[in-house]
Amino acid sequence: MRLNPFDEPYLTDPAGVWRRILDEPGGVHHDPDLGLWLISSHAHVRRALADPATFGNALTLAPIYDVCPEALQLIMQIDAPPTTAAADPPVHPRTRRALRVTFANTADRVEQRYGPIVRRRVGELVARLVARQGERVDLVREFSTELPLLVLLDLLGVPEQDIGRVRDWADGQIALIWGRPEPAEQVRLAESLLEFWRYCQRLVQARLDDGRYGEDYVSLALEYRDGDDDRLTVTEVASIVFNLLVAGHETTAGLLAHALDQALSEPDRWRAMVEEPARIPAFLSETLRYAPAIDGWLRITLRPVTLGEVTIPAGARCLLLIGAANRDPAVFAHPDRFDPGRPDAADHLSFGHGPHFCIGAALARLEAGIALARLTAAIPGLRLTPDHRRSYKPNVAFRAHRALPAIIDVAPPTGRAVAPDPAGAEVPAA
Ligand code: HEM
Repeated sequence: MRLNPFDEPYLTDPAGVWRRILDEPGGVHHDPDLGLWLISSHAHVRRALADPATFGNALTLAPIYDVCPEALQLIMQIDAPPTTAAADPPVHPRTRRALRVTFANTADRVEQRYGPIVRRRVGELVARLVARQGERVDLVREFSTELPLLVLLDLLGVPEQDIGRVRDWADGQIALIWGRPEPAEQVRLAESLLEFWRYCQRLVQARLDDGRYGEDYVSLALEYRDGDDDRLTVTEVASIVFNLLVAGHETTAGLLAHALDQALSEPDRWRAMVEEPARIPAFLSETLRYAPAIDGWLRITLRPVTLGEVTIPAGARCLLLIGAANRDPAVFAHPDRFDPGRPDAADHLSFGHGPHFCIGAALARLEAGIALARLTAAIPGLRLTPDHRRSYKPNVAFRAHRALPAIIDVAPPTGRAVAPDPAGAEVPAA
């Protein structure tokens, strides 16, 4: 069996391939063309995520394929020290502690610290959509990719005029590392990644030079550092910012797009949330399980490891198929069925598991919960255009919609009586 992650059938509907890998002994498959070990079962993916002594993170943010020498030379100039997803012990426990202190990561803290920013940004974007009553819009371009970026820039204290550049840099990083660009494009993307890293360094240095700290993340991280390199260096602060700007943007954009797609492609699902916003958290949990924004994530083995009947040698690159683990019939009944009522949807691995568990999970849930509540309340008749066909960007890790064309309709869907609250219903985070 071969897995071509860039093939249109796999990109559009990977579940058939995941099923075949899940059926192999131990749910493990070696793909010599990709140079990857594919790990699919829920138990093995969960174990790999939680076992940094066997499954290291050093190559998690390195390009998945061999880049051309010119691009490689540029990438080598990016001297960002590993701090988050690419860090191993002993660095990671230290940088993770810094993240836990400086970045809100529980539902309560996120609500308190980031809630007002999220509500303001959701309000602005929904108002912009409402103003286009009757028109066709692309929900990806005009909502799902915009919201997490705007929220993140507010949190980090990035100037508004830099939004476009940061968006292009973050998109470029994902295409360069987990996509399959041509050599000329690799060079362009590597140049832009280097520029992005330099930008993050300047952002941190400017705050340091200014010396006046505010409520933004860069200020909080510098305060935490308190001049002590053993806690966190200035370059590590810049590296965390560099990582957050990508980790918190495309991922949440993916959750929003998948949730809107799942809801609007079956209008009864959308209508159910319009009529009963309390259904939104469970709907988001099932979206995370069924259609994770990141469905494959890399590790490298630091020593040989036996999973079921299969032994993987040391130094092997492994693609943890989070999407397949979320469809493992050993854990989820009727796993290929989208069912917001399933009791165990939260057992998904879409935010990882163990020491690298997503620090932004609570923020992503808050954003998506508020976004769906406001959209269902303000635009209850929202619907996909009849000619819509699902299509995703070519990528091994991020399953990102190219577009989600929809019609703005503030009238309630026909056939059922609904009385939406124009101010936007509030629901707790998913
Ligand atoms: C639906 C949205 C999101 C998804 C699906 C997601 C997914 C993930 C996954 C799978 C990991 C584990 C990586 C590993 O084990 O190596 C991770 C880690 C991480 N995520 Fe998220 N993420 C989301 C949102 C966010 C947000 C909003 C932020 C911050 C603004 C964020 C920041 C991070 C960071 C910094 C890490 C690395 C943590 C560490 O290595 O200790 N993520 N995320």
